[in-house]
Amino acid sequence: MTLFRATVLDTPDDPFAGGSLRADADAGLLVRDGLVVDRGGFAAMAARYPADEVVDLRDGVLLPGFVDTHVHFPQVRAIGGLGMPLLQWLERCALPEEARLADRTYAEAVAEEFVSGLVQAGTTSALVFGSHFAPAVDVLFAEAAGAGLRITAGLVVSDRLLREELLTTPQRAYDEGLALARRWHRVGRTRYAVTPRFSLSCGDGLLDACRSLQADVDGAWFTSHVNENAQEIATVARLFDGCGYVDTYDRHGLVGRRSVLAHNVHPTDAELRCLAERGAGVAHCPTSNAALGSGLFPLRRHLACGVRVALGSDVGAGTGFSLFKEGLQAYFVQQLLGDEGVPLSAAHLLHLATSAGAEVLGLGDEVGDLGTGRRFDAVLVRPATGSTLDVALRHAADDEQALAKVFALGSTADVAAVWVDGRPLLTRGPDGAPSGTTGDRSGRVAVPG
Ligand code: GUN
Ligand code: ZN
Repeated sequence: MTLFRATVLDTPDDPFAGGSLRADADAGLLVRDGLVVDRGGFAAMAARYPADEVVDLRDGVLLPGFVDTHVHFPQVRAIGGLGMPLLQWLERCALPEEARLADRTYAEAVAEEFVSGLVQAGTTSALVFGSHFAPAVDVLFAEAAGAGLRITAGLVVSDRLLREELLTTPQRAYDEGLALARRWHRVGRTRYAVTPRFSLSCGDGLLDACRSLQADVDGAWFTSHVNENAQEIATVARLFDGCGYVDTYDRHGLVGRRSVLAHNVHPTDAELRCLAERGAGVAHCPTSNAALGSGLFPLRRHLACGVRVALGSDVGAGTGFSLFKEGLQAYFVQQLLGDEGVPLSAAHLLHLATSAGAEVLGLGDEVGDLGTGRRFDAVLVRPATGSTLDVALRHAADDEQALAKVFALGSTADVAAVWVDGRPLLTRGPDGAPSGTTGDRSGRVAVPG
């Protein structure tokens, strides 16, 4: 067993429901087989477990591993395509790149970059939009499993209005999805998600096939996009004879507790009530919404209706993998909404990036905080000596202020170590250089499943 000694910040009690930041300046976390089996003040823990190896992490701040509830595997190389609204960005930036994943060798290179991107950002769990090509999705699962990440992903399907090579048929979508689910669903830390791209590119027959697949794969997830952009929403209404966007999925039985819909920037009240009744989650993707000019996320209305919300990076419309940046952008947006916004504290941001994500992905009993009984999925934030974040942390008045500074100034460069199930996926030396034992140049460490 290992006794981790650290300053630990987490949010086991939802700050949107009256909870506050849990901050332990000198905690001891006893980890056995990847599980936190006991936790307390370090001195008491060291006295209780004198024989166990101590890993001293007091040169940084330990947080729960981040949970990214919406991120696109094939879009790593498309990050940074600025200046376009959604449909133009898809046409010019995202879809040409996604078409390249028809080539398995290309997909392998992108999968390596994608998984490295997640790990370097401190993301330990993610709901991932896969590729339109089944072999590329297989490659993604293999890469994520090899790295040791907690990944839910699936084959992206569409049967209209996209470039020809990205289209499929309902039968093929079902067959290929089932084959992938049989290989990867509930294998180690991977799960399968039925993934129609968005109802703009999916007819009713294809959405029916998605429902059949979800029904036939026990415990499979559903994810898609909804209510992101005004032109997109108007096109969906036209294609579905005036049917509401959420309803295009709901009438096929696709909206439930194992559903996560990305964006939802422009929902109606009826749609919010539907999402709340069904227990579906919403992935709020603030840098993407800003980059594409999609709009300002109505968090207050989601919370008022009881809709569960967590953060998504939405790489590649989003501007990177870091949930520090998403948290900060979420904060900015609520500030800009004035009276209609929700004032967010640092504890809210940490919650949205960790425990809220775990809840939305149905992993709340396993990860999301670092309490006893949770898996040891964790991130060590340790800025370079003399960096602005280092200076800011040394002058923080209290833990909440320190956390605010981490969100204001933190980046992937400050992620010094990452664990999933107690195993290190990334380690960097104090100089910032990767020092993984069997890792590549990124410092990633190969982890057996
Ligand atoms: N809607 C359909 N596909 C996409 C995508 O790749 N990114 C975003 N942001 N929205 C979408
Ligand atoms: Zn997306």
